[in-house]
Amino acid sequence: DLYGAARRNSAGVEFGHEAALGGFLAEIAEATTTVAATPLVDGRPAAGTERDVVSPSDGRTVVGRVAEATPETADRAMAAAAAAFRRWDATPVAVRAAALRKAADLLEARRGRFLALLQREAGKTLDDSLAELREAVDFCRYYAAEGERLFADMAMPGPTGEDNRLAARGRGVFVAISPWNFPLAIFLGQVTAALVAGNSVVAKPAEQTPLVAFEAVRLLHEAGVPAGVLQFVPGDGSVGARLVAHRAVAGVVFTGSTEVARLINRALAAKDGPIVPLIAETGGINAMIVDATALPEQVADDVVTSAFRSAGQRCSALRLLCLQEDVADRMIEMVVGAAKELKIGDPCDPATHIGPVIDAEAKQRLDAHVAAMKKASRVHHAGAAPAEGTYVAPHVFELADPAELKEEVFGPILHVVRYKAAELDKLIDAIDATGYGLTLGVHSRIDDTVEHIVRRLAVGNVYVNRNIIGAVVGTQPFGGHGLSGTGPKAGGPHYLLRFAIEQTVTINT
Ligand code: SER
Repeated sequence: DLYGAARRNSAGVEFGHEAALGGFLAEIAEATTTVAATPLVDGRPAAGTERDVVSPSDGRTVVGRVAEATPETADRAMAAAAAAFRRWDATPVAVRAAALRKAADLLEARRGRFLALLQREAGKTLDDSLAELREAVDFCRYYAAEGERLFADMAMPGPTGEDNRLAARGRGVFVAISPWNFPLAIFLGQVTAALVAGNSVVAKPAEQTPLVAFEAVRLLHEAGVPAGVLQFVPGDGSVGARLVAHRAVAGVVFTGSTEVARLINRALAAKDGPIVPLIAETGGINAMIVDATALPEQVADDVVTSAFRSAGQRCSALRLLCLQEDVADRMIEMVVGAAKELKIGDPCDPATHIGPVIDAEAKQRLDAHVAAMKKASRVHHAGAAPAEGTYVAPHVFELADPAELKEEVFGPILHVVRYKAAELDKLIDAIDATGYGLTLGVHSRIDDTVEHIVRRLAVGNVYVNRNIIGAVVGTQPFGGHGLSGTGPKAGGPHYLLRFAIEQTVTINT
């Protein structure tokens, strides 16, 4: 029942309630997070090259170790997944869904450990880590329910003397390549979607966040997913390329950069044999249009949340704030005022708003962008970041033209442009010209303006008079078009169908 118990989202914690917060923090503090992640082939540790996983919060603390898969291990994982496929595909969907539901319960029961890992390995703040755990739980329960709805055999109408039915089946081995910015939620979202549809899965987590993914795989095995049906191969992009090139691959689900999505698409297209589908969710140059009728306090709050929360490391985050010129100065002043209040630092401190960016490479890229912007644009705000660890402070820059922002800048850096009310369509065309279409914000009290903007821009997720991040599973199906991805929408009613094939059976009775 999609609208009954199965559709209830995972519960939060009332941070303002002292006892609730205290108990919650204790759960995290007591959790041990020393993880030694290895590739898992049929559930057994397999060969890999070992290295430390270091926390981005200080660049020193060792969170655990990972053995990264060798090319041979990657090949063995693919072969093992192929061998396990038929039996899993023949397993009733109710059994597959039950494993997902059990995993959701286990995740909630052990949340302290997962939250601690998200904070230490991925540098997530307290509320970001909790939001992520809840999203992971929601994906498990939602896809369990959706799987049962979509993959039940369906009787089709037809002439007397004939039985017609439509059934869905798994495609085969799905390769799941996930990002570091949601190392638990997106990792599990991809994997559980592929599993409930009847596929076996070879999962490659982002190289920055293998530990939490390893724990999630072990939890799924414990929940009833057979070891052969879910293989785990940590490593860098070369491991992903090896998996994609394997002859057993029947589908790929990927979240990450547009550039890597293209590489995967080309690699799949160049192969002999069947046409292999790619489901990709990539980035965006996400805009928010604010007109003169918007409520300033609400705008400031929503801009700060959308641009700076999670250190701007969400594919949904706001990159381009478009202010009607009559209100621009006031809005900028309010946004900068709010940005100055943000506390940046140790993600494990409950008072922190902004933790580190994921690694030194990301910091270097962002610092270089900040340096270039300081020369080329008007600087409204340049915050200060702690020296140790990979921190980047919020910045607000003003551009003369939206086209000056040429690529997605994946951090807490906001770009502002002004527009004249009479030139709204020109602005809309400029946003369209970026080629991306993931999230869009509109702040306006004029219904016709809202409707006009929404109709003109083919953007996946549009948020009106609110912030533009944090899509909720089953409520705001998430994903974009164009340079932002292939669809379908994660956490939505059509997602699972892309992971399956359909079979029509006609019996002459
Ligand atoms: N699903 C996430 C969000 O909506 C994407 O990064 O913020």
